[in-house]
Amino acid sequence: MNNALDHLPEILLLGPGPSSTAPEVYQALSRPTLGHLDPTFIGIMDETKKLIQQVARTANAVTFPVSGTGSAGMETGFVNFIEPGDSVLILQNGVFGTRMKDVAQRLGGQVDSVDFEWGTPVIVSAVKEALEKKKYDLVAVVHAETSTGVANPVSEIAPLVKAAGALLLVDGVTSLGGMPVTLDAWGADIFYSGTQKCLACPPGLAPFSASEAAVARLKARKTKVPNWYLDLSMIVNYWEGAKRAYHHTAPINMIYGLYAALLRVVTEGLESTHARHTAAHEQLVAGLQKMGLQMLVQPGSRLPMLNAVVVPDGVDEAAVRSRLLTEHHIEIGAGLGPLAGKIWRIGLMGYNARPDVVDRVLGALKSVL
Ligand SMILES: Cc1ncc(COP(=O)(O)O)c(C=O)c1O
Repeated sequence: MNNALDHLPEILLLGPGPSSTAPEVYQALSRPTLGHLDPTFIGIMDETKKLIQQVARTANAVTFPVSGTGSAGMETGFVNFIEPGDSVLILQNGVFGTRMKDVAQRLGGQVDSVDFEWGTPVIVSAVKEALEKKKYDLVAVVHAETSTGVANPVSEIAPLVKAAGALLLVDGVTSLGGMPVTLDAWGADIFYSGTQKCLACPPGLAPFSASEAAVARLKARKTKVPNWYLDLSMIVNYWEGAKRAYHHTAPINMIYGLYAALLRVVTEGLESTHARHTAAHEQLVAGLQKMGLQMLVQPGSRLPMLNAVVVPDGVDEAAVRSRLLTEHHIEIGAGLGPLAGKIWRIGLMGYNARPDVVDRVLGALKSVL
């Protein structure tokens, strides 16, 4: 019988995610599977929770990985904290802000959005204006908008949202591990991330955190959380306390992988990890500029881990990506929505934020172009 896994190509993953998995994480994934209530595994859960708290800089008691990808984190963030009729403001400047709007609308939220041009950041004065016009229960923003390569100014938005008395939800799927994420200093109430970007772990879990104010909102709900699987009020009984009540079977080996990935980040040190991402980004931008290529995003708002590069006139962007893959075994990403055909997205995330990787993609691009 042929084994379809015998001949997997080794591709350098420099798209918008997944990024390449770190060797220590692959090793962790292959450790013996334990029972989900085994005391040794419960110890690993506790350590994983502490590591998420460290990497996201929070003391939030409700901090754990949601079983599912980043979008499961997004669903968890909305389904637990808004009820039908609640007023929700989404700050939208890319695919993931648009997805948040869809998620919140499906839950019966009264959803408004302030929309910004894709490739530009959220403008803080526009948020202030929107918050002065109307009272919101929850305001949501994507920290690192992977679809455009833009960093949104969460540290400036957060105090406005707090002053307006709303809960602040932050998507950190792409930012966690690659740039500073400081939940408690921001005053963020709801946060989720993903494993497959700057944590250098395969996709499958969504590190999640909720503040005391968010938990109080959950406890004060008038209606039942409409999704059984993602209902935090039940899940926390498995992740906390002495009892460890079964909710669903935890993805044991993925939790080993996440634990190893977070341990890697903490061992390197948060500042060093972030500086490594910034250095890789600067090296890439300098190299691209030497080749005459332009970045989509203005310097102050560029993400270090996701680089949006403008496709030059007359170049077939899909053909370039295809040749990078087949001839150089490098995957880069295409533009989405209004940016389809207009940009390439080059991710330098986690294990791939390294000088040799940047040299390799620059060399390959040069030869293909
Ligand atoms: C900013 C952001 N939010 C949410 C998601 C959704 O995560 P997933 O595809 O893991 O479900 C992504 C995925 O790329 C993302 O980049």
